[in-house]
Amino acid sequence: MQVLVTGGTGYIGSHTIVELLNHGYKVVAVDNFSNSKKEVIDKIEKITNKKIKFYKLNVCNKRKLETVFKENKIDAVIHFAGYKAVGESVQKPLMYYRNNLDSTLTLLEVMGKYNVKKIVFSSSATVYGDPEELPIKETARLSTTNPYGSTKLYIEGILKDLYISDNEYSIAILRYFNPVGAHPSGLLGEDPNGIPNNLMPYIVKVAKGELPQLNVFGNDYDTPDGTGVRDYIHVVDLALGHISALEYIDKNKGIDYYNLGTGKGYSVLEMVEAFSRENNVKIPYKIGPRREGDIASCYADTSKANKKLNWKATRTLSDMVKSAYKYVSKN
Ligand SMILES: NC(=O)c1ccc[n+]([C@@H]2O[C@H](COP(=O)([O-])OP(=O)(O)OC[C@H]3O[C@@H](n4cnc5c(N)ncnc54)[C@H](O)[C@@H]3O)[C@@H](O)[C@H]2O)c1
Repeated sequence: MQVLVTGGTGYIGSHTIVELLNHGYKVVAVDNFSNSKKEVIDKIEKITNKKIKFYKLNVCNKRKLETVFKENKIDAVIHFAGYKAVGESVQKPLMYYRNNLDSTLTLLEVMGKYNVKKIVFSSSATVYGDPEELPIKETARLSTTNPYGSTKLYIEGILKDLYISDNEYSIAILRYFNPVGAHPSGLLGEDPNGIPNNLMPYIVKVAKGELPQLNVFGNDYDTPDGTGVRDYIHVVDLALGHISALEYIDKNKGIDYYNLGTGKGYSVLEMVEAFSRENNVKIPYKIGPRREGDIASCYADTSKANKKLNWKATRTLSDMVKSAYKYVSKN
């Protein structure tokens, strides 16, 4: 089976390609390097000792994307390409709507033309907004608090309408919780430029001395230690979730939604403590005011993915914090 991976040199895309190759899939990847680097391709090939076919293109460019489908027999698509920074999406909403929606519509049109009807889509726990109940089930009420989240919710709706129009489609919508960590080789991982939005890259930059301290946004939430609680999932477990979803949609038509998390929440201070302990580094931090749009707690009910996709996250918090630090120390 040959799989097209959009956003293939990105953080989650690169880890997923490694697992696809390890599981015997053939991979064609595309990316425009708007948030990743060309070297990632060599690293994937080094880890797996296998080759991938790669096209540098913008998924919104229909003519170029069609070339990929003309030149390769694509059986299924995993669609990661998109912008993902919540804060930036508030500043530049049109850029987010243009890129995330346009790339998806273009991709779906080209897939339709070439009769490719299997797709795994990267959605996010952000579609649950401020959850009413914990752990969060896939049936929870959906809402968003920023343009990035809205792009995910709109795309979920587009995919649903597409399936209603044509029941031959097989669509898995994966709602990721908080992906962290890196490949055990230390070759692939996440190291964003500037001041990161997310906790783990922020901690890592403090550990490396690139930032003086971690700003903790609020310690007066209704959580055990007052700091925000999230469901962190190791990126390799997340990548394996895509293999399970692909196996499932290969055999079953329909559209369905799955939470990919561990089901367990950790607070900001628990993460800081685990990172310091496991890596033997100090993480100075300062408690500041709450950050606009943040919620107290968010963790998944993963029983649907456990049962239906036969998938479960197995990597520990120690694996997450150690691999994250190993990656930045090596790169
Ligand atoms: N990392 C997270 O915390 C998280 C959480 C939930 C959902 N997601 C979603 O998962 C997907 C992958 O996330 P990631 O963390 O790997 O992000 P990433 O930025 O590392 O990867 C996305 C890749 O897509 C590429 N890209 C963006 N727009 C493109 C376009 N128009 N054409 C071609 N390439 C394009 C970027 O260059 C990048 O390599 C995204 O859709 C993101 O919204 C991520």
